[in-house]
Parts: sequence; structure tokens; C-alpha cells
Amino acid sequence: MQAYHQPDEIRTVTNRLLDMLIDYYSSPKSSKAVNYRSKEELVKAFYQSEPPNEERPLDDVLKEFKESILPASVKTWHPLFMNQMFAGASFPSIIGDLMASMMNPTLATWEASPVATIIEKNVSQWMAQMMGLPKGSWGIFLPGGSLSNLIALTIARNQFFGMDIRRTGIPMEKKPVLICSEASHYSIANAANILGLGSDHLLKIKTRVNGSMDTNDLEEQLQQCDRNHQTPFAIIATMGLTVSGCFDPLDEMAGICKPRGIHIHVDAAFGGGMALTQKGKRHFTGIEHADTLTWDAHKTLHMPLTSSVLLLPNPQLLKSVFSQKEATYLFHPQPEHEIEDLGKYTPLCGKRFDALKLWLLWHTYGTENFREQAENRFKLTEDFGAYLKSTEDFHMDYQSESPISCFHWAPKEWQKVDRKLRAPYSNKLHRTIREEIKQDGNAFFNIALLNSMDQFRFILINPLTTLDQLKDLVSEIRARALAYCNKHPQPFQSSGEQR
Ligand SMILES: Cc1ncc(COP(=O)(O)O)c(C=O)c1O
Repeated sequence: MQAYHQPDEIRTVTNRLLDMLIDYYSSPKSSKAVNYRSKEELVKAFYQSEPPNEERPLDDVLKEFKESILPASVKTWHPLFMNQMFAGASFPSIIGDLMASMMNPTLATWEASPVATIIEKNVSQWMAQMMGLPKGSWGIFLPGGSLSNLIALTIARNQFFGMDIRRTGIPMEKKPVLICSEASHYSIANAANILGLGSDHLLKIKTRVNGSMDTNDLEEQLQQCDRNHQTPFAIIATMGLTVSGCFDPLDEMAGICKPRGIHIHVDAAFGGGMALTQKGKRHFTGIEHADTLTWDAHKTLHMPLTSSVLLLPNPQLLKSVFSQKEATYLFHPQPEHEIEDLGKYTPLCGKRFDALKLWLLWHTYGTENFREQAENRFKLTEDFGAYLKSTEDFHMDYQSESPISCFHWAPKEWQKVDRKLRAPYSNKLHRTIREEIKQDGNAFFNIALLNSMDQFRFILINPLTTLDQLKDLVSEIRARALAYCNKHPQPFQSSGEQR
């Protein structure tokens, strides 16, 4: 077996890797966003029922990866890849990710990863500072926003019902209730499941037209909880809702919930970057009330997956929930210092050095870069919104508050038709167009249900996306929509009466 410890062996494969990186980064537009192939075709080409038993040179395997796996995969770095809440990643951060694999520390213990531990704590402090959290706030990097939300809500549960919950388990006789909205990310429902609450104990508050929480309903639901002798212990304020990108009214929610001692978790996984912008920072009024906050740098800060941080004004809470006395083989006594084993602050034992890529990016571009990037992405979203408004046939139900545009096509003659009446036909049209464009491969964007209708959903966080590209895409959508209508007669009349 070749061990790849010799410089020449390493150089050969590294050269191939470099070629791949250069090709990938210097030609984001040169190929399609999706080289569409059917599921049957892909499974036939790539699924191997038997593991590879024979030895092969690594360079050979890399060649195969470059020539067959990479071209068949979705190009998330493409300017019109707008389907996910991340889009490619900046070059320095990719290098940082590779370096983290090369170093391969585990951030659970100080003695095995001393500098990495300092860097992680330090970067989380910078993020807390940038977010406007109180002095002394910091946190831990976790593999994704979903997990950060789960850990935040575990803290909320244990703190509210007493740290003895580690021994006694959850006091269901107190009828604990977790509050979110109908538009919260699905990781909250998963958290309720994992925390042993169950969906019956997850209270979903109604939303307004842009998806933000309706605080009148929140007040009413809290009163109902009182009448039912239930105990609401935490609420999630989403900053950058998954579908619409808009913001829950954090300050108002905190005003209602803080006096009741309810833990405020801010899920800024997507919208965190908007706190850096002139227009976006107003949504973060009341941030000082946040007990925990999730922020995914892999979403709007153009980092590779995963780069998620959970921030807290009182990070010692993490230790109260997660430190274990049993693991004496791992955590050895150390002189008293504010830098400690991060393994005591998280349920993770093998803990990847995710902070390194952000550290490298920060050092390469400086703080101002984040602000500038966030401003640029939001400006593109606003310009695109203004363009849609100038057309007669594309419509947005709300004003974008972060880099997401949800919009639908409805020609003038449809306007008077009740939404519910036209939704089945319109939904089919939108889904067909998305699928056609994805299969052509020139763009990849999503569809989401908003205000009882499927809408196109563009996530505009890729720095390579331009307004002209978006306008061309909108023209293509219009042409396809008209062709669809010609082919499939509408089951409703423009007057609003059903045929
Ligand atoms: C608001 C919100 N919270 C949490 C998450 C989960 O983040 P991750 O994909 O990093 O697990 C998402 C993902 O889209 C999100 O939109």
C-alpha cells in the first residue's frame, strides 16, 4: 500500500488537486449549474454494490473524481445556483477548510489542540461582537444551524426547569411548551422531538403576510397557556425566515416573553449577516434580550458547509448543561484560566476545527468585507424586487428584508381571480417551469409555498449573480409560462368564475 509520505508522491496528487481547484474557481460560468441526468442514470453510473477491494493509485482516483463525479454534480458556485441557503464558498475559506482537515485537531481538549481552542473561542467572540451581543458573549462552533438550535433549546430547557433535569429528566407534569411560529425552520420541530417534548408541546404562532410572527396571536396563545396551566419555557425569533427571508419582530417578542422568564432563542442562521447592513440592523433591535443565538457563516458569509456558531451572553450555561465528570481519561485538571477544554461546553467529543476557515477569511479580507458583501447582496435583492415590480406579470407578496426573493407569475387577467381558485393551476405551472429550467441546467432555484400559493424562491447570496442574469432568467420564465398556458387551458376564467 502506498502511504503518501514522500514529497514526490504527495506533489503529484496535489498538482491534480490544484488543477481541479483552479478550473473550478476560475470558470464559474463555463459550465451549467446542473448537468441534469435522471436518477436512474446517475444510480446506474455511480452506485456500486460492492466496495472497491483492489488497490489503485490515488492520482487515478482523483482523475476519476474530476472527470466523472464533479461534472455530474450540481455546481453550487455557479452564478445562477440559487436553490440553497449557501452558494459555493470564497476561495480563502475553502483553503481554510482544507487546512482544518490537514491539521485535524479535535477541539474537545485544550492539551490536544491548544491554538485551535484559542482561535475558536476568539472567532466566536468576534462574531458575537459583530452581532451586537453584550460584552463577554462567545460560543461554540457546531456542525450546522439545526444542531445549534437544538443545543440552544437544550440549554433553555435545562435552565428553565433546573439543571437537576440532567438527573431527573424532563418534568412533563409542568406541561412544558416551546414556542415558535408557523414559519420557523423545521429544525425546531426536530429539536422538540429530540428534547422529548413532542409536537404536542410545540406551539406554532400564526404569521403575517411576509411570514413574520403575529404578536397578537402570541399574546393570545400565552394567555391560553395560562388557562391550561402550561409552562412556555422558550421562544424562537427567526431572523431571516427560511422561506421569505423576513424577520420576526424580536423586540416586540422579547417585550412580551422576557417578563415571563421565557428563554429567547434567536435563530439568525440565515439572516445574521443582515445585522451588518444599514437597512437590516433595525431588525436586530432587542438583540440584547437574546439568551442564545444561532448564526451560520456558511449561509450569508460565503463559507463552506459547515460553519455554524451558537453564541451566548452567558457561555457558562453550556458548561452547566454539557460538562461530564466521568470523562477523566480525557479532561485533565488544568490551571484556572478562562480558556478551557471546549469539550466541556458541547456534547461533541470529536470536534472539527470549523472556526479556522472563518479565521483565515477574516484575516484575508478584514471585517469591512463582511459588511460590504452583505450590503451588496441586499442591494441586488432590492434591485431585483424593483425590477419585478416594474413588470405587469411578476408579483411579490412582500418586500424582501434579506437576500431572498419569493415571487410568482400571474398575468394581468388572472389578478381578479381568487388565489385559492387559481392556485392548483398556478402551482403546477410554477413547478413545471422550475423543473424545465433545472433540467436545461442554466439555473437552479427553488419553489416554496407562501400565502397558499407556490412561488419561485431565489436565494441571492452568490457574489457572482448579477441583475442582468436575473432579468434574462425572468424573461425565460415568462416565455415558458406563456407556452405552458397555450398548451394547458386554464380551468378558471379571468372574471373569477369557475368554468
Ligand atoms: C432559519 C434557519 N434556521 C436553521 C437552519 C438550519 O441550518 P443548517 O442547514 O446549517 O442545519 C436553516 C437552514 O436553512 C434556516 O433557514
